[in-house]
Amino acid sequence: MTSVTVNDTVTPDLQEGVVHLSAGPDGIATLRLGANSEYVVTLTERRLDSLKEVLHRLKSDTETQGLIVTGPGAEMFAAGADISLIQSITDVAEGERAATKGQTIFGMFQELDIPVVGAIEGPCLGGGLEMALCFDVRVASDDASTLIGLPEVKLGIVPGFGGTQRLSRLIGVPRALDLILQGKTLKPIRALRAGVIDRIVPSARLIEGAREEVKKLVERRAKRPTRRLAGMNKWISRVGLLRRIVRRKVLKKLTTGQARFYEAPPIALDLCLDAFRLRAKDGFANEARALGKLIVSPTCKALVHVYFLTERSKRLGKGNDATTIHAAHVIGGGAMGAGIAGTLAGRGLRVRLCDLAKTALATAKARLEKALQKRVRRKSLKVHEATAAQDRLAVSTDWGKLTGVGFFLEAVVENLDVKRKLFAQAVAAGLPDEAIIASNTSSLPIDQMAEGLPNPERVIGMHFFNPPEKMPLVEVIVGPRTSDAAIATTCKLAVRLGKFPVVVKDSPGFLVNRCLAPYLNEAARMMVEGCDPQRIDQVMLEFGLPMGPARLMDEVGFDVADKVSEVMSAAFAERVQPSPLFSAMVAAGHLGTKSGSGILSEGGSAVIAELRGTTTAKPAPSRTEIIERLIYPMVDEAYRCLDDGLVESEDDLDLGLIMGIGFPPFTGGITKYAKAEGIARIARRLAELADSHGRRFTPSPGIQVRG
Ligand code: NAI
Repeated sequence: MTSVTVNDTVTPDLQEGVVHLSAGPDGIATLRLGANSEYVVTLTERRLDSLKEVLHRLKSDTETQGLIVTGPGAEMFAAGADISLIQSITDVAEGERAATKGQTIFGMFQELDIPVVGAIEGPCLGGGLEMALCFDVRVASDDASTLIGLPEVKLGIVPGFGGTQRLSRLIGVPRALDLILQGKTLKPIRALRAGVIDRIVPSARLIEGAREEVKKLVERRAKRPTRRLAGMNKWISRVGLLRRIVRRKVLKKLTTGQARFYEAPPIALDLCLDAFRLRAKDGFANEARALGKLIVSPTCKALVHVYFLTERSKRLGKGNDATTIHAAHVIGGGAMGAGIAGTLAGRGLRVRLCDLAKTALATAKARLEKALQKRVRRKSLKVHEATAAQDRLAVSTDWGKLTGVGFFLEAVVENLDVKRKLFAQAVAAGLPDEAIIASNTSSLPIDQMAEGLPNPERVIGMHFFNPPEKMPLVEVIVGPRTSDAAIATTCKLAVRLGKFPVVVKDSPGFLVNRCLAPYLNEAARMMVEGCDPQRIDQVMLEFGLPMGPARLMDEVGFDVADKVSEVMSAAFAERVQPSPLFSAMVAAGHLGTKSGSGILSEGGSAVIAELRGTTTAKPAPSRTEIIERLIYPMVDEAYRCLDDGLVESEDDLDLGLIMGIGFPPFTGGITKYAKAEGIARIARRLAELADSHGRRFTPSPGIQVRG
């Protein structure tokens, strides 16, 4: 057999950025998608060109009888297109051309006369899966790193290298929609059930398993015949009327709620249907055109920015001085502590949760059990894994010895003295000198908690959001004495928990609550002025937030909102004058969801009416005025946080507010929104609002300079 190499200069240390073909003794060649020294395999232009060259040569190679395509090393197949490339394309035609090129090169696998089998371990995502869809058989390793999917819509685009066409034909429209419209990534077992892959083998047997599959086809001297769809999947894909019914139903979902802000999923829906209603050539052409159009859209650029923000946040957990935590001790098993302890146990840490109240501990155990069972039902967790996670969470009123503990966190009542006493008690109970001492406080100064403790540099704030199991942000609060090692270790832990850490300097309200305070305060003022809370909520939903301020107040609780307002007005008296609504709601016993009645209930309306007294309601503000009065001060406060040195960069503001309050991701974050809106315009409108509504709107010097 002729030895085929991509590049004659290839050395045993494979060249990075290109693919490598090596001949096998049995006529079965292996195509590696890169060099194992690469951090991640992306489908750059260079790699695609190299792939094209290899496939071209293989086409005329008469001696190779079968081909295995695999990643360059363990845990690396192909993570998809090069995201910097997606960001850099600003021309529709260029985007379309890139898609056509990808479609054509991957199609060359199907044009080979020999069978092609994928040996997949690690990420097989986006373009990586679109390539694998052109193989005859896909064998995946059972390694935890193996993830399969088409997550393109999360970047505001559609799969453009043939994914919508080939996946729909392979597994049928309903299943393809389920995967593509939400950008789901599947573990091997779920990918197998969906029909995306054909076989799972243990990691150590990956190449052997792929070889067996190639040999079977070689013996039959055949490519694998097209798989037939069955059952409803077949009927929905093939029958026009059923396709139209599905389209109507799915489109309805995609055009309501927050989904309506994203253009890519409805377009992907039509493309998947095209796979059965158009000729193949036209389906592929439509897909390429759609990619060209979407790749230059502001939503795509914003979502790519968000993607880079999340990657930057994850890197915070990779600091050299970060330690891996194995055992944690959590004090306080209430709303926050129970959720945090369960999350820690779920991610592999041994945890002891202590509370004064036995009922709190029983509730915490039950809460974790419920969450784990849900995952077992959804098949994202095996029964024995759920049992192990449950076993890792020990609960007790007694602390025991803390000698083996690497991470101590308190989540008890918001009281400085209580928290300080607990920290001192932890040290007395044998907490090692190097263990992190963390508080989940939402308002108290970290440095004061560290006072009097040995090694105060390991004291840090780890501010989770409610509910901690679900909310993706963790503010890592750094006092003047907190060490870099403590920051790195806490960030690493946050990332391990699946969260996005943002490092914030210790200061009242930290980042998120500080930006939220003027927004909630102003919303409360508008309600007292006579503006309907439901209307304010509606305008904010249309703006793109996941919920409006009235519902948010009810969720947070008026007791908490009142307390935060107090802290904020003590710190920033000149611009935070708390609305009387918060304390009035507390006095009337309407605390929000937790008490069963809040601002959106009759009780809330009565409190508002009483506060307004005999003053006549002001004319209903326009949509624009509501946005300007609520969002512009939040923008100003965010820039104040940056200028006060709370965070390092605009990226922190963008990520913090997207993950912390759900600031619309399609804007790219609060600073991107401000720039699109025009910072000068925001500063000018704030100055006008200061004249008409009060000093609290006075724009900061920082925003005026930027304008
Ligand atoms: P919670 O009132 O639901 O729970 C506090 C728990 O601590 C209770 O179970 C109580 O029995 C226990 N506890 C009190 N003193 C204790 C002691 N000396 N030893 C052991 N256990 C003790 O409070 P929640 O809401 O969980 O808040 C806890 C902390 O988290 C507070 O510092 C709060 O500011 C902060 N936080 C709260 C958020 C929220 O939305 N609730 C969000 C982010 C932070």
